[in-house]
Amino acid sequence: MYISKLRLQYLRCYQQLTLDLPPGQNLFLGPNASGKTSLLEAILLLATTKSPRTTYDRELVQWGRAWGQAAGRFEFDSDPPRAIAVTLLGQGSSNTAGEAPPSYLTGAKCVQIDGQVANSVARVVGQAPAVLFTPDDLDVVKGPPGVRRRLLNMAISQITPRYLADLHRYRRALQQRNELLKQMAQHKADGASLAPWTSQLVEAGVRISADREQFLSQLRPVATQLQSQLTGDTEQIGMRYSSSLAGAGDEEQREAVFREQLERQFDRELQRGATQVGPHRDDVEITADGRSLRRFGSQGQQRTAALALKLAEAQVIGQRRGELPILLLDDCFSELDKRRAGWLLELLGSFQQVLVTSAAASDSLRKADWAAWYELEGGEVRQTQGVAGTDG
Ligand SMILES: Nc1ncnc2c1ncn2[C@@H]1O[C@H](COP(=O)(O)OP(=O)(O)OP(=O)(O)O)[C@@H](O)[C@H]1O
Ligand SMILES: [Mg+2]
Repeated sequence: MYISKLRLQYLRCYQQLTLDLPPGQNLFLGPNASGKTSLLEAILLLATTKSPRTTYDRELVQWGRAWGQAAGRFEFDSDPPRAIAVTLLGQGSSNTAGEAPPSYLTGAKCVQIDGQVANSVARVVGQAPAVLFTPDDLDVVKGPPGVRRRLLNMAISQITPRYLADLHRYRRALQQRNELLKQMAQHKADGASLAPWTSQLVEAGVRISADREQFLSQLRPVATQLQSQLTGDTEQIGMRYSSSLAGAGDEEQREAVFREQLERQFDRELQRGATQVGPHRDDVEITADGRSLRRFGSQGQQRTAALALKLAEAQVIGQRRGELPILLLDDCFSELDKRRAGWLLELLGSFQQVLVTSAAASDSLRKADWAAWYELEGGEVRQTQGVAGTDG
């Protein structure tokens, strides 16, 4: 699948932008603050309804504007094209003179699929999958466990529609349960009120953990393969699902294990006023040649591994859906040495559409085979070379 048209209105530095995009490899060149990340962010917003940079959607809306919108047209191998639009409420009072938010924007965010307002924002997730790699993704290797859980959540929700619902149920049960545990410690609540939340926690938690384990088992061989392609066969990446429910078996067995662990931890839960075991504590241990990359990896090794993981995520989403997601690479060439950059460029050919941004056109970027080449400056995008598009 690929995105053939992108239209932005009042999003970040873009007041109005209409862009035609060909399949294949697209290069976006522009100095700092020219809108490179914002462009990829908008495509990820269409794919996931979320920004990778902030949890506050209104920050995406251009300063002073009442609303902003991203709209895209997505082309599929087997399905008819699909139009997706995400409209966000801003903090300003109006857009151009007197222009109030569109009437369909009744909340803070609204999603339209083929012109129809979707009754739930979550409905759009997975309709047009995309995977973004940014320099911040180094945190997937280096950062705290929450970053890796987020990677799992983002990837799995694009292939398993019920996963997001399970995650919401789990988080709600966790929150309620923790609240009750605190009250119970002060004798303000009893065990009977805890039981239904424990059941919900277990039910959703078991599915989440089974999904994560299955996803990782698919991700592992692909990441291993990519890592060796990116390092000229010199590094072997490893990935272990680190969870109290790892390897716990089928759903029924997993449920028994989870319940038993919760019972065993009950005294500690009461002391701490918080649930001590479960998928909210999951992690993925990433190794190179058997050693923790988080603790022992060089910066370049960590970066390459993070990249291999993201590319693997994209390929697994592709395997599960039968079509590869759009690959978005934000500024990831600047820190790779020449050989690794060359290996990465070679790999990109296996995706249906790739959007690459860079602040500088290095030799290896110049020499690569681009379907289209764009230059960005102050919220304007100009296509300077390419096969498709209106102003090529
Ligand atoms: N809500 C907003 N409204 C208007 N402008 C914004 C908003 N949020 C960010 N900006 C501005 O948009 C510009 C483009 O930001 P962006 O992060 O896309 O640049 P970039 O090309 O990725 O830069 P870099 O090379 O430094 O990563 C910046 O000047 C930023 O301050
Ligand atoms: Mg940027």
